[in-house]
Amino acid sequence: MSFGVEGLDAMLSGGLLEKSICAIVGTYGTGKTSFALQFAYEGLCRGEKVIYISLEEREELLQATMAQKGWDMEAFDDRFYLLRLDPTDFNLAVSSIKSELPALIESTGASRVIIDPISLFEGLFEDEADRRQEMFRLIEVMRDEDCTLVLTSETSPANQYGSRYGLVEYLADTVVLLRYVRSRGLTEVYLVLEVVKMRRSPHSREIKPFEILQNEIMVYSEASLF
Ligand SMILES: Nc1ncnc2c1ncn2[C@@H]1O[C@H](COP(=O)(O)OP(=O)(O)OP(=O)(O)O)[C@@H](O)[C@H]1O
Ligand SMILES: [Mg+2]
Repeated sequence: MSFGVEGLDAMLSGGLLEKSICAIVGTYGTGKTSFALQFAYEGLCRGEKVIYISLEEREELLQATMAQKGWDMEAFDDRFYLLRLDPTDFNLAVSSIKSELPALIESTGASRVIIDPISLFEGLFEDEADRRQEMFRLIEVMRDEDCTLVLTSETSPANQYGSRYGLVEYLADTVVLLRYVRSRGLTEVYLVLEVVKMRRSPHSREIKPFEILQNEIMVYSEASLF
């Protein structure tokens, strides 16, 4: 399942495996939503059905972002399900994701599903044991669905290599880590990505710089930071 980002697809030996679960982990502004939208758009361009659950950005803003990228989203009106869930409404958000999402995937036949960011869903559970159990359950339920799932997550405040609650990287099959790197003289900041984990597939272990441009994400595969 191609991301539609050339350099990343190459690092993943072509893309995500069908019906696998991918976590995109990064701190604020590292491009999680940009990669998630690109994954959605690539599916739509390939004729697939796509569900995008946004727990953070509003539908209108995401639509504006996509329009700004020059994507003609009206062409996908009948196959793109963009839903915003308000994470402050605990019961609604939890029941929507736990029970309504699987039903929606089945009724629409969506092959790509994105939850952006899953860390807000995890944060709904104050108790750590509850959170862990709910995430295990969600992943179990999603494994029975005929779709590839992309979850984005903030990083943990204490560890820029780990997700907010330290769960998704263990549960996901593939983990893509996005982060900032400051140049030696601290005069520049780069964004870099790495594929930290990919079950059942060979993948690159290189760290590659990337840039989010208005209408595409460029991974500089030839560039080497170290
Ligand atoms: N159209 C654009 N043109 C150029 N750069 C862009 C564009 N859209 C986004 N960016 C860059 O991408 C960054 C934010 O990307 P994005 O929203 O994907 O990050 P995020 O990891 O989802 O952030 P957050 O944690 O706040 O949700 C911006 O800070 C900006 O540098
Ligand atoms: Mg985002």
